[in-house]
Amino acid sequence: MADALILPLGIVTVSLVALRLGVMTAASLRQLKHQREHDQLALQLLRVRIGEAKKRRDENTLAWNGYRKFVIHQQVEEADGICSFCLKPHDGKPLPSFRPGQYLTFRLNIPGREKPVVRCYSLSDRPRPDQYRVTIKRVRTPRAAPSAPPGLVSNFFHEQLHEGEILDVQAPRGQFFLDVEQERPCVLIAGGVGVTPLLSMISTIAEARSGREILFFYGVRDGGEHAFREVFERTIEHHSNIRMVVAYSQPTPEDEKREGQDYHHAGRIDIDLIKSYLQSTNYEFYICGPPAMMETLNQQLLKWGVAKKDIKTEAFGPATVSRAFMKPKPAASTQAPAAASVSITFSKSGKQCGWEKDGTNLLDLALANGVQIESGCRAGNCGTCAVAIKTGKVTYLTEHGAELEEGTCLTCIAAPDGDVVLDA
Ligand SMILES: Cc1cc2nc3c(=O)[nH]c(=O)nc-3n(C[C@H](O)[C@H](O)[C@H](O)COP(=O)(O)OP(=O)(O)OC[C@H]3O[C@@H](n4cnc5c(N)ncnc54)[C@H](O)[C@@H]3O)c2cc1C
Ligand code: FES
Repeated sequence: MADALILPLGIVTVSLVALRLGVMTAASLRQLKHQREHDQLALQLLRVRIGEAKKRRDENTLAWNGYRKFVIHQQVEEADGICSFCLKPHDGKPLPSFRPGQYLTFRLNIPGREKPVVRCYSLSDRPRPDQYRVTIKRVRTPRAAPSAPPGLVSNFFHEQLHEGEILDVQAPRGQFFLDVEQERPCVLIAGGVGVTPLLSMISTIAEARSGREILFFYGVRDGGEHAFREVFERTIEHHSNIRMVVAYSQPTPEDEKREGQDYHHAGRIDIDLIKSYLQSTNYEFYICGPPAMMETLNQQLLKWGVAKKDIKTEAFGPATVSRAFMKPKPAASTQAPAAASVSITFSKSGKQCGWEKDGTNLLDLALANGVQIESGCRAGNCGTCAVAIKTGKVTYLTEHGAELEEGTCLTCIAAPDGDVVLDA
């Protein structure tokens, strides 16, 4: 009887041991695989960091002061009214790298204009040693001001500039950039041509193979405005860490046949759409698009609990929009306003305005009140918005890169420090 039990017991024991060993082996293999993946990611991150350190060193040694000549090497139509311009340095020397999200500043001599005109355009490609690329949308006359002229520089680029033409360009600049060395997951949100700096970020992350989690929301009006469709599709296909949600706010009947392929959502990008893709608020958010979209999303994200420091935005504010054709803001007056404690006088225009506590900068105050001041970067770098201070003092909201003549101020980043009289 005992003997009869020995064999089955032995088989059961051996089976159990084998099963245990099997489970252990499977678990160990899984653990080993996990460890290998982890090591590979760590190694990749190390490579990214070494690469970035090299880029920063090159940036410092290769950057230039003032303007450098570039040749338009290639022009590519990306969508309706959106065109890319690839630029090679005229001197043929290598280019400094840049941080994805930064922009170039252009100085153009436009026939009929007394002074050169300055505008900024974001770099839309990843850094390459021999060329930069910008992508420009043709700006039309706004509906609210039908008698205003169409955008000066964007139309000049589209209509008058061709391959072989030479342009004056400043070195890459800007504080709106993605730190490629970080691992934190990101949400990128683009509206229309605001896609340009975000495309640069995505291409750079893809090139670095960093494995960083990226969720990209891209909103356009319809298929005609959907630039870089193939580029994004190819990138998503090869990089599982990058996901994309495309929203058409006004899909055409033709577009509707391709819902689910060309786009995933009909309507604007809003907080509900974003929340439906995220488990938590623990992301960095990068937003670039029309002012109304950025303002709304910014407020909604804050309300949802996203930390202010985790929301980065870039405004493509129209450079010369004047309210001359629109209804003036009530704050504008030729008399000193009674309620405001700080008064700003634009002496040439004969306008006096009150500086509100939540005022953004002196340039915005001037434009909102019909005082013409030219601008370019709106970030204190190009010097276009400089105006002489007749009396009073200003403080700066951020550091400035542009050199300043004594007694002048960069209105795009200046706030008054008491009453000020400006020569504008
Ligand atoms: C950091 C940064 C990055 C940018 N990146 C990009 C980019 O990648 N791609 C891109 O396409 N753009 C970008 N821009 C925007 C770009 O710099 C220009 O502002 C844009 O091309 C418009 O310039 P413009 O000369 O064509 O138009 P402007 O001549 O400046 O006119 C702008 C608008 O104002 C209207 N207007 C003109 N005069 C008047 C008037 N008197 N009264 C009322 N309305 C008037 C025009 O009809 C037009 O709609 C960026 C801007 C910044 C600051
Ligand atoms: S607009 Fe460029 S410095 Fe103010």
